[in-house]
Amino acid sequence: MCSGRIDPSFVLKSFTEGADGVLICGCHPGDCHYHEGNYKCLRRFHLLEKYLVQMGIDKRRIRLEWISASEGKEFAELANEFSETIKELGKSTIKQEMEEFA
Ligand code: FES
Repeated sequence: MCSGRIDPSFVLKSFTEGADGVLICGCHPGDCHYHEGNYKCLRRFHLLEKYLVQMGIDKRRIRLEWISASEGKEFAELANEFSETIKELGKSTIKQEMEEFA
């Protein structure tokens, strides 16, 4: 329910199980119900992004955005834009590479 609950292992698992991209959304800074969850998410995101790039994953495949539950139109636009980016990048090869390595 809070972006502060996002564990980097959730994102890694998504990619290793075949996700082509991961979009993380949280409340706008200052609006987190749990006060600092989105700040915690932001700190983790920057570390995760660096780690994924070192693993060979294009950083455009992961994105963090602040958006509130009342911003349905903006969320739809964001989701469509992210989907287009992922389509342009094509399928991720991480799952296949993990299976070949195992
Ligand atoms: S409740 Fe924490 S980011 Fe939304």
